[in-house]
Amino acid sequence: MADVEPRPLRIVRQPLPHDSAEQHVSGRALYADDLPESPRLLHLAFGKSSVAHGRIVAMDLAPVRAAPGVVAVFSAEDIPGKNDVSPVMGDDWLFADGEVVCVGQSLFVVAATSAEAARRAALLAKVEYEALPAHITIEEARAAGSIIEEAQRMARGDAAAALAAAPHRLQGRLEIGGQDHFYLEAQIALATPREAGAVHVLSSTQHPSEVQHLVAKVLGLADADVTVEVRRMGGAFGGKETQAALFAAAAALVAAKTGRPAKIRADRDDDMVMTGKRHDFDISYDVGFDGAGCITGIALDLASRCGSTADLSMAINDRAMFHSDNCYYLDAVEILSHRFKTHTVSNTAFRGFGGPQGMIAIERVMDHVAAALGKDPLEVRRANFYGPGRDITPYHMAVEDNVAPQLIDELAASSDYAARRAAIAEFNAGSSHLKRGIALTPVKFGISFTTTFLNQAGALVHVYADGSIHLNHGGTEMGQGLFIKVAQVVADVFGVGIERIRVSATVTDKVPNTSATAASSGADMNGMAAFNAASVIRDRLAAFIAQRNGCRADEVLFAGGQVHAGDETIDFATLCRMAYLGRISLSSTGYYATPKIGYDRASHRGRPFYYFAYGAAVSEVAIDTLTGEHRVLRVDILHDVGRSLNPAIDLGQVEGGFIQGMGWLTTEELVFAADGRLLTHAPSTYKIPTAGDRPPVMNIQLWQGGRNAEETIHRSKAVGEPPFMLAISVFSALTHAVAATAPGKGLPRLDAPATPERVLAAIADLRGRA
Ligand code: MTE
Ligand code: MOS
Repeated sequence: MADVEPRPLRIVRQPLPHDSAEQHVSGRALYADDLPESPRLLHLAFGKSSVAHGRIVAMDLAPVRAAPGVVAVFSAEDIPGKNDVSPVMGDDWLFADGEVVCVGQSLFVVAATSAEAARRAALLAKVEYEALPAHITIEEARAAGSIIEEAQRMARGDAAAALAAAPHRLQGRLEIGGQDHFYLEAQIALATPREAGAVHVLSSTQHPSEVQHLVAKVLGLADADVTVEVRRMGGAFGGKETQAALFAAAAALVAAKTGRPAKIRADRDDDMVMTGKRHDFDISYDVGFDGAGCITGIALDLASRCGSTADLSMAINDRAMFHSDNCYYLDAVEILSHRFKTHTVSNTAFRGFGGPQGMIAIERVMDHVAAALGKDPLEVRRANFYGPGRDITPYHMAVEDNVAPQLIDELAASSDYAARRAAIAEFNAGSSHLKRGIALTPVKFGISFTTTFLNQAGALVHVYADGSIHLNHGGTEMGQGLFIKVAQVVADVFGVGIERIRVSATVTDKVPNTSATAASSGADMNGMAAFNAASVIRDRLAAFIAQRNGCRADEVLFAGGQVHAGDETIDFATLCRMAYLGRISLSSTGYYATPKIGYDRASHRGRPFYYFAYGAAVSEVAIDTLTGEHRVLRVDILHDVGRSLNPAIDLGQVEGGFIQGMGWLTTEELVFAADGRLLTHAPSTYKIPTAGDRPPVMNIQLWQGGRNAEETIHRSKAVGEPPFMLAISVFSALTHAVAATAPGKGLPRLDAPATPERVLAAIADLRGRA
C-alpha cells in the first residue's frame, strides 16, 4: 500500500487536549462518587477476613445488625443466584462461604445510612476461624506444590543441547516485586433498582459487559436485566479489569434486596488490602552465548505469585512468556512458567499484563552476558536483535515489523549514548561515594488480547438532524484519552470539527458484549468500530445528496464542516436536516474484529498478536553508595506509536507509563507479613513516584518513522502499556551503577524494587565476592 495518506486527515493526528482536560484540572469532571445522592441511598462496607487461610467456625453478625444506622447485612446465604464474581474460573466469591483464602476477603456486606456507620458496624462481627496452613510466598507455595494451573512450557529448538555446547554459559536469578495500581479513584459502585427486578449499576470498571454478566449471575437475572454504565474512571491501570465486579455485585445485591439505591466506595486501605495487584516474580535463567555475546541457547524459569484464585493469572503469565524474548532472537529456547497459588489477595492485570516481568528477565540476561564478556550491554543487545533469517519468536510467530534496530540506532545517536557512557566511566573512576550508571533498553510489545475471541469491538453513532453527533462505543475512559481519539476518528469521517461530537458514558444497553478496555487495544478496536459505524452513515448521506445533485456518491466530499456534491456546497447540518426529511436513517452500529490472529494455547504456537509496538529508552542514574538512595538524572525516549491519532495524548501515555514503570522498579514495595497481612496499605508506607521524582531531564520523542505495517485505524499503534517497560532502562542503569562500586567483580544481584536497602545489599554482595 502506498505510504501516503489516501486523503488529508483533518482532525485525526492533531494534538487535541483530552476531552475532559478542563473538567479534570478544575475538579468539575463527575466521577461516580460526585453524583447527587438519593435520600434513600444506602452506604455499604465489607466485613473482611482477618486470617490468610481458615475455616469459618462461627460468624455472629448480630452486633453488626444492632449497630447504629445499620439497615441490612447480607452474607453468602443471601445470594439469590451464584456466589461468583470471577472472570474465568468461577473461583472468586462475593462472600466467603465456609472457608477464607486470604486476609481481606469479603465475608459480608453492611448497608447503613452513612458510610461511617457502615464501616464502624462491619468491625463488630464476631468471627471464629479454625486456622489452616497458609502459603504466603512463592517459596512456600512451591514447597507445598500449590498451583493455579499446570506449569506451561514454550519452546523452540533444543535448549538443553545448545546450553551444553555453548562456548560460554552462566546462570542467574532475579526477584521482581509486585505493584499496587494506586489509581486516584478507588473502587466504587452505585446500584439503583429499576422496574421488575432490573438493576442499573454505575461501576468503576474497565469491563462493563463482564460486570453486567456477573451482577446478573449473582442476582439470578438475565444479562438483559442488568445495565452497567461507566462515564470515566479516575485511573484503572488494569486494576479495574476484573476487580470492580466484587463491589458492583455487592451494591447490586443490596439494591435488589432492599429496593433502595446502594453505594460502595472502598477507602484507600480497603482498596489496597482487598484488590489484586501486579504479580511478583521469581526468575532464574541459564544462558549459553558466544564471544560476541550472541545467545546460542537459553532456559528461562518464570515463577509468579498468583494469589488465592485464578483471576487472569493464566493469561498474565502467558504474556510474561510471550515477552521474555523482547527484541531478541532466541535460537534454542525453553521458557517454563510456574503459576503459584498463595493465600494472598488474588493478583490481577496491571499495565503490561505480565509482559514487564518477562521482559525484565531477558534484559537482565543481556546485562549479565555483557558483564561476563566485559562488553557494552548495548553491543550485546544489538548482537541478539531479531533480523532477517532470525525472525521467529519462541511461540513460532514471525516478527515482520521489526523496527527496533533502526529506532535504537536513532536513539543511541540522539541521546549521545556512547559519549555519555564513556564520561560516566570516567566519573566513576574519580568518585568514591557517588556512582553513575546508564543503560539503553528496548521494548517490543505484542498488541492483541492473546485470548483471540476478545479481539472484537462495537460502536453506535447517531447523527441528529441538527448535525450534532452522538458517539458511543464499548471502550471505557480511564484517563488514557480513548474518548478523544475515537471522537477524532468519527469527526474525520464526517469532515466536521471535534466540537460536534458528544462522547458519552459507556453503557451496556447501547453496545453489547464488549471486551475489557485493556491490552492497549482500546483505540485500535473501538476506533475501527466507530469508523465503521460513522462510515455507514456518511455513505448514506453521500448517496442521498449525490442522487439529488446528479453526481457520483464517491465524489461527495465531507470537509471543513461542509459537504461538496456536484456543483453544490452545503453545510453538514443542512444536509443532515435534508436527509432526515428525506427519510434516511442517520444512526448505525459498527463492528470490528481484529484480523490475522490465532493462537493454540495447548502447544503455545501461533500468531497471538496483530502487530508489535516498539520503543527504547536511555536512562542515566546516580546512586549514593553510603545510603543506597538514587536519582534518575536523565531519560531519553524514542517511542513508536505508528502514525499517531493524537500526539499530545500519546506523549502523555509515554511519560506516564514510564514514570509508573519507574515506580514499580524503584520505590513501590509491597510487604506482606508472614501471616499474610499486607503491611503497606496506604501512601504512608507505599511510595508511588511523586512530581519530584520525575527525572529533571526527560526528552520524549514519538518516532517520526512510525507507521503501522498492518491496517490499523489510520495506521496508528497502541500506546497504553508499551512505554511502561521503557523503565527497565532505569533498573538496568542502577545495576550498572552498583557494578561500578566493585569494578571487575561482574554483575551484582540487584532485585526489584531497587530500594535503598536493596541497593546497599547489592553493593555489599558484590564487594564481598572473591
Ligand atoms: N492511562 C491512564 N491515564 N489511566 C489508566 O488507567 N491504563 C493503562 C493505559 N494507560 C491507564 C492508562 C492500561 S493498563 C491500558 S491496558 C490502557 O491504558 C487501556 O486503554 P487503551 O486500550 O485505550 O490504551
Ligand atoms: Mo491493561 S493491564 O491491559 O488493563
